[in-house]
Amino acid sequence: MKSPLNLVALGFLTFAAGTHAASFEALRAEAAALVPPFQQQLMQTVKQALEDGGPARAVESCQLLAPQITAEHSRAPWRVGRTALRVRNPDNAADAWERNVLEEFVLRAKAGEPLQGMHKAQWVDGEFRYMQAIPTGEPCLACHGTEIKPELASLIEQRYPADQARGFQPGDLRGAFSLRRLPATRTAPQPSAEP
Ligand code: HEC
Repeated sequence: MKSPLNLVALGFLTFAAGTHAASFEALRAEAAALVPPFQQQLMQTVKQALEDGGPARAVESCQLLAPQITAEHSRAPWRVGRTALRVRNPDNAADAWERNVLEEFVLRAKAGEPLQGMHKAQWVDGEFRYMQAIPTGEPCLACHGTEIKPELASLIEQRYPADQARGFQPGDLRGAFSLRRLPATRTAPQPSAEP
């Protein structure tokens, strides 16, 4: 009399797989929804500082406020941040997983996928992680481009002696938003990736 049990087991597995897929998708959507307010506040802060006191003031406010804005938008159990292959602030340096994803984004862009909306979601060691590409736009060039004004360049050098985040062209991958979420339970779900 094995079959009823097998059927029950099969039903349970199907249910579990369905639930897992649903929760993966729900977490992906939750992460994606956290990005725009974070991005908007960063943009508004730079824009306001540029209007108030020019690029020098904006660099100052970036240095002071970017970490603060990042902390504000990190609401438990989520942690938000920004990273890149070449960073200005060493605190934003990519870890091994982030580096792999950024390299994957470069390849996907080369293959023709638009950077806008490019993302990756994955379970990594029991933690849900999500990254979304940040393209370089025209307004970013003043501080991340190839021709940074000398007074601004020296201010950046002063505040970020290890700066690598310059020399970007419009449309280049500048970096990515990177979010992570600790699971509610201690049992790590099976790894799954998307896309
Ligand atoms: C006024 C100068 C300025 C402008 C304009 C600017 N940034 Fe930045 N950016 C900075 C500074 C300063 C930091 C370092 C912030 C910190 O200390 O966390 C930074 C950090 C970053 C980071 C985090 C990774 C790293 O390099 O440390 C990303 C990603 C980024 N900028 C993307 C952009 C994009 C995209 C734009 C255009 C929409 C832009 N920035 C416009 C000054 C600027």
